[in-house]
Amino acid sequence: MTLRTLESLGDLQGKNVVVRCDLNVPLKDGVITDDGRVRASLPTLNALIHAGARVVVVSHLGRPDGEPDSKYSLAPVAQRLSELLGKPVVFATDTVGSAAKDAVDELDDGDIALLENLRFNAHETSKDDSDRRDFAKKLAKFGDAFVSDGFGVVHRKQASVYELAEELPSAAGLLIQQELEVLERLTVSPEKPYTVVLGGSKVSDKLSVIDALLPKVDSLLVGGGMVFTFLYALGHKVGGSLLESDQVDTVKGYLVKAKELGVTIVLPTDIVVASRFGDDAEYVVTAADAIESSAFGANGMGLDIGPDTAASFAAAIMTSKTVFWNGPMGVFELPPFAAGTRAVAAALTEFDGFGVVGGGDSAAAVRALGFRDDQFGHISTGGGASLEFLEGKRLPGLEVLGWQA
Ligand code: 3PG
Repeated sequence: MTLRTLESLGDLQGKNVVVRCDLNVPLKDGVITDDGRVRASLPTLNALIHAGARVVVVSHLGRPDGEPDSKYSLAPVAQRLSELLGKPVVFATDTVGSAAKDAVDELDDGDIALLENLRFNAHETSKDDSDRRDFAKKLAKFGDAFVSDGFGVVHRKQASVYELAEELPSAAGLLIQQELEVLERLTVSPEKPYTVVLGGSKVSDKLSVIDALLPKVDSLLVGGGMVFTFLYALGHKVGGSLLESDQVDTVKGYLVKAKELGVTIVLPTDIVVASRFGDDAEYVVTAADAIESSAFGANGMGLDIGPDTAASFAAAIMTSKTVFWNGPMGVFELPPFAAGTRAVAAALTEFDGFGVVGGGDSAAAVRALGFRDDQFGHISTGGGASLEFLEGKRLPGLEVLGWQA
């Protein structure tokens, strides 16, 4: 079976269509710092508006505790969505209560409403199937049809992702379709050399993706906080850097497996080390195998890959034909520790091949560093979802739409 697409829903003029988007954007003091996921939702929403549907958008934001919490309100997102669509977006201050019902009842053909954060209701993410079913049935009352377009949540078996798709005639939106087309280019005979760049803080978040990708790639470049567990596994002291002691043996296993498979794991040769976080933190560049001998001794924390490593990572990307990148190389939010992430991003915009930036953090990083989306082959809206896709895992939010790997 293949993915059901919008056409399968027929004529939507005058129909109520519930759309599950992933509008989980980063916020600072109530202000959206990266609206990439809102922008990525526009093609489907515009298509439905132009088809004359009455559009009811639902999404989560963050991980509230199953009850209303103003910190996680979607109100700022409704405003941004309205600006980007160039039309009013009615915002309902609850999800399945009277405010939502009133907002939906008021819609005319081509109008759009956004309901408050789905995760303000504990049944959205409940482990109990009947709780989720019950919540999905309430949401289903708002629609004649359901469009699933939150690619970032297709790996979650949650009420608005899975059960709701069973309660109404359902189909995938344009974003999910596009994401799948792109990510399949990485799984179905990717052009070689194929290089994967992994960063981010924890190696424990990346274990399954490393397992799945090692047999498929030519090179794996490792940076970010997770690299210190690799350096430690090689017998180096890492000072106060992030270390997952319980993963050292796993990492040793990867180093052995990579050798057997003929995959090059490229680790940093130099590291930017500081004794504290901060825009004005003093820092030094030191050899990767001598972090503890740096000016900061055992307190020194590795916060970015060094300039030699950044240059060698960039060179490896430049000779690749396919690159997947997930996870920043350092604490890119602070200027002294952003150069490694910037170098990888720049190489991805310049190399002559197909490059995918996957994951909320990496996407936010490239935008925060001033790159434009159209400089990359593709920026995925999915963090965990794109990793699980590459791992070949079953994704409930896609299977329920008819998709099979
Ligand atoms: C994401 O940010 O990866 C998605 O929005 C999913 O969020 P979650 O990990 O809280 O389910």
